[in-house]
Amino acid sequence: GSVAAVAMALPGGRLAAALSDDPPVPAPFSVPLRIPPVLAPTRSTPDTDYYNIQIRETEQKILPGVRTKTLTYNGSFPGPTIRARRGRNTVVTQTNGMSTPATVHLHGANVPASSDGYPLDLIEPGQSRVYHYPNNQPAATLWYHDHAHHMEAEHVYRGLAGAYLLSDPIDQALPLPQGKFDVPLLIRDAKFDKDGQFVFVPDDFQNRPTILVNGLPQPYLKVQRRVYRLRLINAANIQPFTFRLSNGMQFLQIASDGGFLSIPAVRQEIDLWPSERAEVLVDFRSVAPGTNVVLEDTFSFTNVESKRSIMQFQVGHNAAQFDGPHSNTLPDRLVDEVPLGHATNTRRFLMQADPNTLEFLINGKPFDPNRVDATIKHGTTEIWEIVNGDTALQIPHAMHLHLVQFRVLDRNGNPEPAYDAYPKDTVRLHPGDFVRILVTFNSYIGRYPFHCHFIDHSSHSMMGQFEVVA
Ligand code: C2O
Ligand code: CU
Repeated sequence: GSVAAVAMALPGGRLAAALSDDPPVPAPFSVPLRIPPVLAPTRSTPDTDYYNIQIRETEQKILPGVRTKTLTYNGSFPGPTIRARRGRNTVVTQTNGMSTPATVHLHGANVPASSDGYPLDLIEPGQSRVYHYPNNQPAATLWYHDHAHHMEAEHVYRGLAGAYLLSDPIDQALPLPQGKFDVPLLIRDAKFDKDGQFVFVPDDFQNRPTILVNGLPQPYLKVQRRVYRLRLINAANIQPFTFRLSNGMQFLQIASDGGFLSIPAVRQEIDLWPSERAEVLVDFRSVAPGTNVVLEDTFSFTNVESKRSIMQFQVGHNAAQFDGPHSNTLPDRLVDEVPLGHATNTRRFLMQADPNTLEFLINGKPFDPNRVDATIKHGTTEIWEIVNGDTALQIPHAMHLHLVQFRVLDRNGNPEPAYDAYPKDTVRLHPGDFVRILVTFNSYIGRYPFHCHFIDHSSHSMMGQFEVVA
């Protein structure tokens, strides 16, 4: 409604706090940023780390003075961070302590179909499932989240998401900030009622006025005058973000969804739609001590200017500190460009809601687990032409493919800028956009979903599946 729309336009939703029925959202930048705990393995062998996670409903302190019923991995909101290294296996036993079925998808990962978190490979309440992650891909900011058929939107909204940070020797050799200067930021929006409980209304676009970063509303982080590595993860169900820094400082983008860019990109603004990631370096070395820099979102579909605050960086009075000889510089090259194969097949996918039923469809069809929408011979490279047909309804979509990282070739005939082209697992589509992606299917065989990652849409059937066959 209009109240929410107005509240959204004000930094921190200050109007909301003045209305009596509104949730107990604190003033912006009044709580410190929390870093989700790094999950400890229950045991490790020379080549594998084993983890146990309990999926359960808990009460979390998200807003002051109230406890919010939240769905969690191991009682943590967001879920604990899993750190993995290329070439070592990660094995996670997930036990479902909720009253609804769960399935866990590792977003962006190259994994066997049996561990992909297929929407119908459900972990029933009280049951467990073991997920095997081979970590045989380049370093990347991945994330894990629920994918239970028709329930993923509500489950993720209520808390079932966490970061999975994959490292490799290239990552470790690059002069990048590490430890506490390497900060994962799961950014999402939410709507709370006056008692501080989550309100989930499917597809309630732009009516989720509270921004949460790592599970807390508009937090602050005290930073030193040095370079930081921020791993931005759009963990919102349906909200695109356009990030910028309030003092006009630039980001140096070093990675996209599936890992490093070959050359870092200087960015004034970064668009991240649901499930997209960007790793950026932010250089606070020349910022005056005592300065507060706000990470802002300026995303807008209309011409109405919109700006809201995500979080704040409070630049310390301390002199620049260094934690190693190579960790406080800006790299100018990252990884070698990977040549993809030559496409031998082209397919087209139309993402469009049925104007009468408002059911979200791909090529006019809802998801059907018994139908394979694309049969692909192992080793093949294809071009997928993806169209957002929702010009009348003005609905944005974002196409995500499981299993692969692809290259976005062009958008409406124009080449996609390198920082948005590769490696990608999700591609943004404004209403009317026509995007071509180049994708090679040369790892596992089996059935995998592709779907809109506005997950309120995928929960309402905007999903298909491809099958890679030998
Ligand atoms: Cu992040 Cu099938 O999803
Ligand atoms: Cu969509």
